[in-house]
Amino acid sequence: MDSIRVRGGGPLMGSIEISGAKNAALPLLAACLLTDGSLTLSRLPRLADIQTLSKLLIQHGVEVKPAASDDGDEAVGGTVTYTAAKITDTTAPYELVRQMRASVLVLGPLLAREHVATVSLPGGCAIGTRPVDLHLKGLQQLGAQIEIEAGYIHAKAPKGLKGGRVTFPHVSVGATENLLMAACLAKGESVIENAAREPEVIDLADCLVRMGARIEGIGSNAITVQGVDRLGPAEHEVVADRIEAGTFAMAAAVTGGEIELIGARTDHLGALTEALAFSGVQFKRTPRGFSVKRSQTELVGVDIKTEPYPGFPTDLQAQFMALMTTAKGASMVTENIFENRFMHVPELARMGADINVHGGTAMVRGVEGLNGAEVMATDLRASVSLVIAGLIASGETTVNRVYHLDRGYERLEEKLAACGADIKRISAKN
Ligand code: UD1
Repeated sequence: MDSIRVRGGGPLMGSIEISGAKNAALPLLAACLLTDGSLTLSRLPRLADIQTLSKLLIQHGVEVKPAASDDGDEAVGGTVTYTAAKITDTTAPYELVRQMRASVLVLGPLLAREHVATVSLPGGCAIGTRPVDLHLKGLQQLGAQIEIEAGYIHAKAPKGLKGGRVTFPHVSVGATENLLMAACLAKGESVIENAAREPEVIDLADCLVRMGARIEGIGSNAITVQGVDRLGPAEHEVVADRIEAGTFAMAAAVTGGEIELIGARTDHLGALTEALAFSGVQFKRTPRGFSVKRSQTELVGVDIKTEPYPGFPTDLQAQFMALMTTAKGASMVTENIFENRFMHVPELARMGADINVHGGTAMVRGVEGLNGAEVMATDLRASVSLVIAGLIASGETTVNRVYHLDRGYERLEEKLAACGADIKRISAKN
């Protein structure tokens, strides 16, 4: 297993090209199942999770073809055409689904197009139990008959899905996406209330509209879909990854450097830029994206709590906590989305951070400095928070189990090294 070695050093300076968003790309890939036409996606991040979902799509009969022009220009990400001319298999097996929870996003499209789908339950994961009950209840509102047997969701709608009203008791990104895709091919009108408003949901809806879907209320918490008989081919560019941009913004802030984030959008990062501005970080729009730098010598502690968009994203909580470990004063970090998303706390503590957890809240008291250590984390964002801490720790930090990072960050160490970080991937073979 590879690891990443970071040596704490000076301020990071330079520019970083932001990749397409993993969390937008995955539902977009699943959307190809809704049409026999070709869906061409550009600015796809080159990540393990994209490969995993592609494998599942191939199993359903999808032809996956990288564009001839895709010469592997790493800076812009890949262009790939997905064609589901015929769905040859409506089962998503456990071996593939267990590798990645987002696989459950094939359920809505398969059911809508083939009127039947058998999808393995994804199971829990490191950050919480993460049930899929809202996905299933929503699909039942559209007329699906669902049974759970031997760890599999057996769903069918013999006469096809029909429009319905779905009111989610709380916001779920995945359930909104599954329902949105299913509703596109349901008969009549569907209304999704208390829908997620994340930029990744908007990106999916925009792509579905390009494919011929009739959707209103995109970006609001009430989405209305008029079902159509079929969707057609389309081309779509994946939205820039706001979580990647936010992560590098915090890397710039923690080291006291200045980084321009090319292709990034501040309008998708309102809650983060607000918190960072209070802490002493400046954001400036540039023609290519935006730049981030610390506006004062010392950062100050700021409280945040994670919430559905436009609130502070749970996917930036760990990185923010790493930033707060050396800020002046204290910071209260509250996690509202997942019950077990503080695995980075004991690891940050091993590097000298002063953090106390009480239920869903962590109290971070700023310390003078961190010291390098050998650390590991069991999820993607927790892992990258340890890299951020390593950028300012004295001595050497080794982050183990780097495969988590590879699931969500494209060439992380290269992008940071290009801005002056002393960071290196240590291959397991060495
Ligand atoms: C969530 C995040 C998303 C992030 C992703 C990966 C939110 C609202 N969503 O999306 O921004 O990119 O994790 O870290 O911040 N839930 C149920 N039943 C369901 C589905 C979800 O109870 O059927 C619960 C979850 O356990 C969780 C909450 O609802 O507590 C939000 O989950 P959801 O938005 O569905 O999770 P993801 O789609 O994975």
